[in-house]
This record gives sequence, C-alpha cells and structure tokens, in this order.
Amino acid sequence: MATQIDITTLKADYILITHAHQDHILDVEQIATNTGATIVSNYEIATYYGAKGFESHPMNHGGSWQFDFGRVTYTNAIHTSSFPDGTYGGQPGGFIIESVEKTIYIAGDTALTMDMKLIPMQFTIDLAVLPIGDNFTMGMNSAVIAADFVQCNRILGVHYDTFGYIKIDREFAKLKFKEVNKELILLEVGSNLEV
Ligand code: NI
Repeated sequence: MATQIDITTLKADYILITHAHQDHILDVEQIATNTGATIVSNYEIATYYGAKGFESHPMNHGGSWQFDFGRVTYTNAIHTSSFPDGTYGGQPGGFIIESVEKTIYIAGDTALTMDMKLIPMQFTIDLAVLPIGDNFTMGMNSAVIAADFVQCNRILGVHYDTFGYIKIDREFAKLKFKEVNKELILLEVGSNLEV
C-alpha cells in the first residue's frame, strides 16, 4: 500500500473518478477538502459529492467537456460502480484527456471491450493507462489486445499487486507487451512519469 504518500500534501486542481469502488474513492473527500479540487466523474458520483458540498462536474458516456487543462471525454468501461455503502455509483467509465501536446486514455477498471476500437477513430493515444491485474478487471493478455485496439504502444499498467486477488509477475507482464513491440511501464509507488 502507498503508506509513504502523505495525502495531506498532495496538490490537485481536479480529481477524475472512473467509478465508485472503495479502492478508487477512499481519499477523495480528504484530498478535495485540502485542495478545493473539482471532482469530475459520471453524473451519479459527481452529484453524490456535489451534495456533500464539493465542487463537481458531472459527465456521462460519450460526452466531452473543455476544461482549462484540456478536453475530457468519458468513455465506456465494463465493470460495476457501487459506493462502499451500497449507494448507486452510476455506470463505470474511463477518461480520454486531450491536451495541446498529448492525449492519454485512462481505461478505468474494465474488461477488454470492443468499444475500445472506437477510440483510435477519434483520438491518437500517446499513453494508455490499462488495468492488468486480472480477476476484477482484464488481465495482462487482454490488456495487450486492448493496447492494440486503441492503437497505442506505450502502456502504463495499473490495478495490480495491491491485494491478493490481483498479484502479477511484473517481468512476465513486461515481456508480454515487449513481444508485440509495446512498452509496459510499471511505476513504483511515489514515482512519476512524463508523457
Ligand atoms: Ni473497481
């Protein structure tokens, strides 16, 4: 777990939430309180936080919005999205973030889906953030295909190793991507990546 990250010192202008599961929203309220960040998510999650007094921006699948940092599109994902207490968290999604220079696809927690093939019809993805841990999301084999579907050769792997069901062999995963001339990046906790 990311015990060496002090969330009280994190800086954020926006918090993008793909879905309402506990491992994705646990620190949202504290970070939003500390920073005044705007929470961007699906309609139900944005409304949930809006009702608690946080700044929020609601979206839904297929919709885009021009923010001051770039344009965000909320994409389809196959997963679930209840809050830890069972409150309905809308439908899960992912994000495409377009800046002047680069475009990032954050798949969110999802299965491999044919909808990913629609993405390169509209966007040129420089970095795809894909779950690779299996069991709750697609595993590394499906992620290799997803990278192909979105036509991206640079993949940041997420949603692995944090709990028992999703342990992976990191070197084996990197090899899987290398075999098809793609790069799998697996960051250490606290490190960062320039796109
Ligand atoms: Ni999830």
